[in-house]
Amino acid sequence: MQIKHFLQFKDLSRDEFEYLFQRTRWIKEQFKAYQTYHPLHDRTLVMIFEKASTRTRLSFEAGMQQLGGAAIYLNTRDSQLGRGEPVEDAAQVISRMSDLVMIRTFEQEIVERFAAHSRVPVINGLTNEYHPCQILADIYTFIEHRGSIKGKTVAWIGDSNNVCNTWLQAAEVLDFNVHVSTPPGYEVEPERAGLYGTDHYEEFPDPMEAARDADLVTTDVWTSMGFEAENEERKRDFEDWQVDADMMRRAKPDALFMHCLPAHRGEEVAAEVIDGPHSVVWDEAENRLHAQKALMEYLLLGKISND
Ligand code: CP
Ligand code: NVA
Repeated sequence: MQIKHFLQFKDLSRDEFEYLFQRTRWIKEQFKAYQTYHPLHDRTLVMIFEKASTRTRLSFEAGMQQLGGAAIYLNTRDSQLGRGEPVEDAAQVISRMSDLVMIRTFEQEIVERFAAHSRVPVINGLTNEYHPCQILADIYTFIEHRGSIKGKTVAWIGDSNNVCNTWLQAAEVLDFNVHVSTPPGYEVEPERAGLYGTDHYEEFPDPMEAARDADLVTTDVWTSMGFEAENEERKRDFEDWQVDADMMRRAKPDALFMHCLPAHRGEEVAAEVIDGPHSVVWDEAENRLHAQKALMEYLLLGKISND
């Protein structure tokens, strides 16, 4: 059987996402009802972190334990990964001792090379280019609150970063639209975002226009991990790209607000928005757990029916 990886959003099809959303709902219900469910008994997940994390580590580690398996945490500082061992060699060794690997690193190319030499499925836990697990959970959260995302409009305000790129890929796979507004010089790079075309997104110089009539408004930090040297310059360049209450008023009255977190109140989002009535950020964070449990189960066991 061919190994299935989740390195970018478009690695899975619309049918597979529909299965995962339905499966996430079932897994979440079991968890809320304190039902033991151990389909991954005796399986081991290795998590490799080359960048910091709270949510990703916690949701994968807790999720694997809840499914009956074990999770091992490795970072660059105290493994050989930080001392120049080739990614290909690390992939050979790590995948002979585990059933599943999750990697958070810098260039996308690193996870692609790891996966090409891995005997087990590899999951992208964030790269400079993509954050597919985040958008899996975000779209599940949208569905929980508002139903299908097909045909809906998502407004992305701020940096055209890994989270933005993944929204753009998801729009192509699941057939919705993204209105993007970035400061000049930070526009979407379609090739880097891995897009087939421009049918599912539109760019707006004015963030207020991007937010108009949106079903979901979302943003992220002005400076992502790995780009810290640009922090001061970015603070100046992104000043007008804050999601505030005035911007939320341009969106649909029942629009949701999401942020992958961690957030900087007073920079990319005003406190009145992230802590206000449109915000679903805590559901969004929690759903990382449930959606990734469904993902890990699917990559290891394929489709399962509990009907
Ligand atoms: N949203 C997200 O991936 O959070 P962490 O960086 O805390 O993992
Ligand atoms: N764009 C952010 C997301 C953090 C979860 C970063 O890459 O730092």
